[in-house]
Amino acid sequence: MKQKLVFATNNAHKVEEIVAALGGGDFSISTLSECGINEDIPETEPTLEGNAALKARFVFERLKSMSVEAMVFADDTGLEIEALGGAPGVMSARYSGSGTQGNIDKVLAELERKECRIAQFRTVIHLIEPNGEEHSFEGKVEGEILFERNGDEGFGYDPIFCPQGFEQSFAQMPLEVKNSISHRGRAVRAMAQWLQTKL
Ligand code: IMP
Repeated sequence: MKQKLVFATNNAHKVEEIVAALGGGDFSISTLSECGINEDIPETEPTLEGNAALKARFVFERLKSMSVEAMVFADDTGLEIEALGGAPGVMSARYSGSGTQGNIDKVLAELERKECRIAQFRTVIHLIEPNGEEHSFEGKVEGEILFERNGDEGFGYDPIFCPQGFEQSFAQMPLEVKNSISHRGRAVRAMAQWLQTKL
């Protein structure tokens, strides 16, 4: 039987990436809206770890109140830029206050006079088992911030992030290539490895 997992997101790109990274066979993934949860979950913690845990616990409790027993996980991702002291980091989604294009513009403007463009994406996944036990998984990818946008695949900061060892941005790569090296792909594979031990 497939293992039922609830992913605390409604971001279609993330779901697509996670389904691809987990592989079809052993798992069935439901999103929040598929579970009838339509609220915005607060992301008020100062760290990726804290926000991932906050989201997973919120959904776990909500499902419990609906008498649904499931394995629940949430992710939080940040783009950490060395020359900006790790910013935007946990603020990545809200960096400019005006959405993805504003966030990218702000990063490019802040790096204009900086020599070092080293950055990493970091994803933390927080998973809660039906018995309430909690686990955390991390994935990172290092790279650099490009001088302008390139490509239109993917989402978020993908057009300005070039992973180490590549000459393309994440937004110029097919999804399977991004998944094979990305922060989220790595965090998901760490989680999948652990889940396999539970099957
Ligand atoms: P969150 O994990 O949804 O809170 O993401 C935080 C911010 O990082 C958002 O602005 C996303 O667009 C961005 N982000 C998350 N994952 C990725 C990714 O794989 N590529 C590019 N940007 C991402």
